[in-house]
Amino acid sequence: MLEKTTLGRTGVEVTKLGFGAMEIRGPRIWGGRPVTDKEAETILNAVLDSGINFIDTAYDYGRSEEFIGRFISHRRSEYFLATKCGCTVINAGDHDETPHVWTRENLLHNIDISLSRMKTDYVDLWQLHNPSVDQVESGQLVEVMKEVQQSGKVRFIGISSTLVHITHYIESGAFDSFQIPYSALERAHEDVISKAAAAGAGTIIRGGVGRGEPGVGLGNADRWETWNKADLDELLDEGESRTAFLLRFTLSHPSMNTTIVGTKNPSHLAENLRIAQKGPLAPDIYEEAKRRLTEAGESAQA
Ligand SMILES: NC(=O)c1ccc[n+]([C@@H]2O[C@H](COP(=O)([O-])OP(=O)(O)OC[C@H]3O[C@@H](n4cnc5c(N)ncnc54)[C@H](OP(=O)(O)O)[C@@H]3O)[C@@H](O)[C@H]2O)c1
Repeated sequence: MLEKTTLGRTGVEVTKLGFGAMEIRGPRIWGGRPVTDKEAETILNAVLDSGINFIDTAYDYGRSEEFIGRFISHRRSEYFLATKCGCTVINAGDHDETPHVWTRENLLHNIDISLSRMKTDYVDLWQLHNPSVDQVESGQLVEVMKEVQQSGKVRFIGISSTLVHITHYIESGAFDSFQIPYSALERAHEDVISKAAAAGAGTIIRGGVGRGEPGVGLGNADRWETWNKADLDELLDEGESRTAFLLRFTLSHPSMNTTIVGTKNPSHLAENLRIAQKGPLAPDIYEEAKRRLTEAGESAQA
């Protein structure tokens, strides 16, 4: 059984290990890897078979929403579905560009297309995809989101955001959840996660396994340099991988609700499930890792 937490004021129980569906976007967006129909069908169904009940995607994640609609919409009651808006997708020949457009018209377009691609009448969580405070205010986007919520197309509203904007949103109380980047290699938002939870919002962590190891996933060598500086290899359990340690570090944050780890590889999913079942790090190892990271220059921002 996977551990669950309550996603803030939504009151919904979500598995602490969630699934980020960006890895099945395909090659047209942000240099993504090719993905076959069979691979997408396999990984999405394996996610649900494992008991993971939280899936995150976005209007601009290439083929991700389409695959969700085609391959798991018949299992709709098994997952809490989060998508994002404020996006456009523009054909630029050999790839797609994805500029954001923060208008009422675009948000209304986004939700209708997302619902039709994902073959569902509602999304559980509709998130703004990284706008600035100015963009949210000048587009009156919270009002637009509430209007869509009233229509029943979305149950809860959230935002994907980072410092410094996120502080304003936490104080405003307008959003039910925050999607926040965080791992041992990227601790800037450690205290922000606690503040969001203390304000009653749900916390959704992205980048929870450091975006994959350098040269393989989206992780980069600079980010992983922190690992070496802090000598975290010394804290690994016998036979434990670096990814396992990172995931357990993320799961150790007392205010995180779910971490939406991205993978299109079923054996990585199986590994992540095994790790998640092991649970958070032992308290002394967690404290020692944070001490070493701080000493290496990777600390939480006040
Ligand atoms: N709101 C935003 O602005 C935003 C931005 C980025 C991402 N996101 C969301 O957050 C999710 C996750 O974030 P992320 O993709 O940045 O970071 P992540 O989940 O930390 O890293 C994903 C990478 O890790 C690799 N990986 C996963 N499990 C592994 C394992 N057991 N061993 C080795 N490698 C492993 C994956 O490659 P394989 O496929 O080869 O396993 C993939 O390349 C995305 O899917 C998306 O839903 C949101």
